[in-house]
Amino acid sequence: MNIIDYSPSNNRYESMLYRPCGISGLKLPALSLGMWHNFGDIDSFDTGRKIIHAAFDAGITHFDLANNYGTPYGSAEDNMGRIIKKDLHAYRDELIISSKAGYDMWPGPYGIGSSRKYLIASCNQSLKRLGVEYVDIFYSHCYNAETPIEETMMALDQIVRQGKALYAGISNYGPDEAQKAFDILRDLGTPCLIHQPRYSMFERTPEHGLFNTLEANGVGAIVYSPLAQGLLTDKYLKEIPENSRVAKDNPFLTKDHLTPEILVKISQLNTLAGQRNQSLAQMAIAWILRDERVSSVLIGASSIKQLQNNLGALKNIHFSQSEYEQIEQILAS
Ligand SMILES: NC(=O)c1ccc[n+]([C@@H]2O[C@H](COP(=O)([O-])OP(=O)(O)OC[C@H]3O[C@@H](n4cnc5c(N)ncnc54)[C@H](OP(=O)(O)O)[C@@H]3O)[C@@H](O)[C@H]2O)c1
Repeated sequence: MNIIDYSPSNNRYESMLYRPCGISGLKLPALSLGMWHNFGDIDSFDTGRKIIHAAFDAGITHFDLANNYGTPYGSAEDNMGRIIKKDLHAYRDELIISSKAGYDMWPGPYGIGSSRKYLIASCNQSLKRLGVEYVDIFYSHCYNAETPIEETMMALDQIVRQGKALYAGISNYGPDEAQKAFDILRDLGTPCLIHQPRYSMFERTPEHGLFNTLEANGVGAIVYSPLAQGLLTDKYLKEIPENSRVAKDNPFLTKDHLTPEILVKISQLNTLAGQRNQSLAQMAIAWILRDERVSSVLIGASSIKQLQNNLGALKNIHFSQSEYEQIEQILAS
């Protein structure tokens, strides 16, 4: 492995925007970096480490993880733990590290779901892999109808009270389940900080209720897969590039997603982005940041080049009425 010394840029807080997370006192960077893909043991540790350095240098203070991120499961947290130990331990108080439990992690009934048993055991494992005393945010990764929601929220409350997380969050809960979760957490004295839904030009579900519920409860939104896993870029317009998520036969993004209809929309959006002097990735991120209810846009990146391209979105997050309408027309066509 290529050993390098890292010392963060002195200018790291100059270009990033920080937005309030709901009505809490916490601010999040407009762009946060997720480690679902590209940071596992099957990926280059050196590349991942350099992406983290570039992100922190650009003011990205928030790194999002979950127990089962990386291939194999747990390896993204292991690798982040190594990076923190090597490079970032002196900056722990400048970092917002999150983890989650909910989807499958280990065999048997206690390695999946939303039970107190699973969440607390998984949080303890994540802390060990990350090599930290606490995570900043611990999430219930998904709603699970088999578990009383009170049990799940009491587990989050306990994790916060034990100092293993500073804040509680939920992800992938619909508006009704989210409202129940917020009410229970408020009653327990650990108000929910944040909700993490999927949202992009291609996935508008949170506009139909969830964002309003979050606003009414003073809960922040950090939205994931803003580029629809890479579809909302120019990368698939000509071919399927080697090493892209589609080329890797990833079950979450396959060739079947590249339908002729989607490719036409991507091409039209790409032309509009060009007229705004932006890449499509930048326009897709800027379009999300138009909504002040969104605290942070949670991107993924497989290279420093992609990360830097995405950071360029912050140079222009304003849209004319005509641009909004053109985007709506393209998406509806
Ligand atoms: N709560 C949940 O259930 C949940 C679910 C999914 C994700 N998340 C979180 O959200 C994070 C982001 O998700 P995501 O990776 O799906 O986000 P995304 O930003 O929609 O997609 C990231 C992928 O798009 C491609 N890409 C990024 N920037 C590009 C650019 N400028 N030009 C061309 N291609 C570009 C890269 O794919 P290539 O590999 O093809 O280069 C990259 O890995 C995750 O890491 C995770 O933290 C949470």
